[in-house]
Amino acid sequence: MTDGTNHGVRPVRGGVHTAQAHDSALRHVTGSAPYVDDLPELPGTLHAAVRLSDKAHARILGMDLAGARTMPGVHAVLTYDDVPGELDIGAILPGDPLLAPDLVEYAGQPVVAVAAETMLAARAAARRVEVFYEPLPAILTPEEALEQGLFVSPSQTMRRGDAAAALNGAPHRLRGELRIGGQDHFYLETHIAYAIPDGDGGYKVHSSTQHPSEVQHQVAKVLGLPMNAVTVECRRMGGAFGGKESQAAHVAAIAALLAHHTRRPVKFRMDRDDDMLMTGKRHDFFVRYDVGFDGEGRILGLEMELAARCGMSLDLSNGVVDRAMFHADNAYFLPHATITGHRCRTNTVSNTAFRGFGGPQGMAAIEHVVDEVARHLGRDALDVRRANLYAAPERDVTHYGMRVEDADILPELFDELERSSDYRERRRAVAAFNAASPVLKKGLAFTPVKFGISFTALHLNQAAALVHVYTDGSVQVNHGGTEMGQGIHTKIAQIVAEEFQIDAARLRVTASVTDKVPNAPPSAASTGTDLNGMAALNAARTIKERLTAFMADHCKVPPEQVAFRDNAVFAGNHALGFAEVAKLAFLNRVPLSATGHYKTPKIHWDPATQSGRPFFYFAYGVAVTEALVDTLTGEYRFPRCDLLHDCSGSINPAIDLGQVEGAFVQGLGWLTAEELWWDGEGRLRTHAPSTYKIPTSRDLPADFRVRLYDARPNREETIHRSKAVGEPPLMLALSGWLALKDAVAALGGHRHPVRLDAPATPERVLLACEAVRRQG
Ligand code: MOS
Repeated sequence: MTDGTNHGVRPVRGGVHTAQAHDSALRHVTGSAPYVDDLPELPGTLHAAVRLSDKAHARILGMDLAGARTMPGVHAVLTYDDVPGELDIGAILPGDPLLAPDLVEYAGQPVVAVAAETMLAARAAARRVEVFYEPLPAILTPEEALEQGLFVSPSQTMRRGDAAAALNGAPHRLRGELRIGGQDHFYLETHIAYAIPDGDGGYKVHSSTQHPSEVQHQVAKVLGLPMNAVTVECRRMGGAFGGKESQAAHVAAIAALLAHHTRRPVKFRMDRDDDMLMTGKRHDFFVRYDVGFDGEGRILGLEMELAARCGMSLDLSNGVVDRAMFHADNAYFLPHATITGHRCRTNTVSNTAFRGFGGPQGMAAIEHVVDEVARHLGRDALDVRRANLYAAPERDVTHYGMRVEDADILPELFDELERSSDYRERRRAVAAFNAASPVLKKGLAFTPVKFGISFTALHLNQAAALVHVYTDGSVQVNHGGTEMGQGIHTKIAQIVAEEFQIDAARLRVTASVTDKVPNAPPSAASTGTDLNGMAALNAARTIKERLTAFMADHCKVPPEQVAFRDNAVFAGNHALGFAEVAKLAFLNRVPLSATGHYKTPKIHWDPATQSGRPFFYFAYGVAVTEALVDTLTGEYRFPRCDLLHDCSGSINPAIDLGQVEGAFVQGLGWLTAEELWWDGEGRLRTHAPSTYKIPTSRDLPADFRVRLYDARPNREETIHRSKAVGEPPLMLALSGWLALKDAVAALGGHRHPVRLDAPATPERVLLACEAVRRQG
């Protein structure tokens, strides 16, 4: 130091590749982190409720609103007729009216919106509304829709080689069907929005949304306003999981419509039942397959049809079914494959994004197939999986024409987990246990994940950020991503701290708000940190370049001799603390604010040929799960589970480990416990935790061994060579489902094919046991 002081020079805390606590961790666990419902209410705030259709398909003949309108405290009772702008809020294509006009297309569709002085008054008034229906025939299942040719958009096929010829020539062939259930997001914070008129004809909307720009767009459309009159803010969500990607706009636009009519702030907080009835879920799928294979279990030809229950409108179903088709290979090379995706139109809620976005369903289908191939040949399923893995140079191109450039990571992961989980020894132990145990049966399954990272809609693969350096050296970061508990703000603070070489504690990442970062894509497809981290880095770099030029000039040294490190800026013999540099730069009229933008390179897609490179890269993982089944009751436990997930170059290994654990448990919930049940009239009867069981801490495997694989940085130039982690580990849970199937198969000495649809509830496990027993 030239002047004897150290200017606060000391190593940076909280940079990248370090385990840092979530920036709101303390506030989360003490209950002091404010969510939308915790914002102080403005005077005059009204509360909203909706009247939902209780018919799956019906014409609305009339309504009696008078009773509701005259109830005390009621300020507005609105129908579709009260929408000043556009009625339809379809995310991609029209089909989703804000409030049902003369037709309802699912039980749970909002028909009337009410604003009242209290939430209870609003809900009571909504119940008082009378709707008169003329019922119409309803199509409820994807099988029915498939048979009648009812789709929300045309079916698509991805083709490689000649699957029909390969099937005909294959030494072995199996055909089958499978049903894979849907899943409610069950975010702890239900959908909520708080719409506030700004007094100048515009609106500020606080929304629990993954996609503030979409909420802004839909609110503006419904009110007939330009987008610049609507500002949407999201500080944090209490979970989202895809459920708040497109459908948060519906809730926010209802709040805004009521605010428009009453000229009051309106808060719409959905209760759990209404939330589960009104908003879309993970798509359930009906699958048909025809597979041909050799004596080693190597797949030679595959024809597969994936039929999704999309519900009454398109919403995001094209992307979801595309992603199911993209993942119908999982980690396996399909030399000849014909994969067809059907988007079935049904009179049920419009299904939407859910962690994995169709990928999990496609992967469940192929994992079931590989499992059946192994059973048919009497081979260990792990050996069959290994025989089918992608491998360079001949077996590394997907059925949509994308090269799997880092396929060699798969055998690495397999070797590592096979060894560390003691797979072979435990396979022998499981067999010995089963030979001696007629009622309790054990199962073991090893499954991989290969998950494509990028939005399959090209234009969404971009992001922007806005970074301000203040004269005290503190930094504010704004970016287009949203915080749903996944820790995106923590990671982005680490990225910007690393770039400026200052402690992360000197940075504050603000709420996501459309007037700071406009036109942002949703935080979805696992891309939040990949995209927004790069945008924030680019913004920080712009400021850093200006400071570098300024310091070079100020200290009379070449720019190459200016370095940012240890919370300071070094220029030749000079060292100044970051705050001093910021102050000095400001006094010398250097701008200390900048925007940054990023777009993902390399990706392209040709819809005509259904081929291209839809993904920038793949994320990988492997899992081994052991199951213990009581074959007389169908009840089961998972005594042990080993996960190894590829998080190479992790920005924050603590957060990534949490994502892997949480995703696995959520996936296990989807595949085992969470059952959506509609009655014969198309009414969802599982719309509260009393009837819909999500996993709890007691459902964790007793021995749960989770590790991040960090041997290889991303081969692509992602942010600090990290890999996306939000969705991929959910699919590691397929090992739990297949371990149950393995235990059931043990009941018949592994001689019979087993069909175990998801979710594998104890009831369904018991039925599968009975089916095996009948075969002897
Ligand atoms: Mo996520 S399922 O891509 O919102």
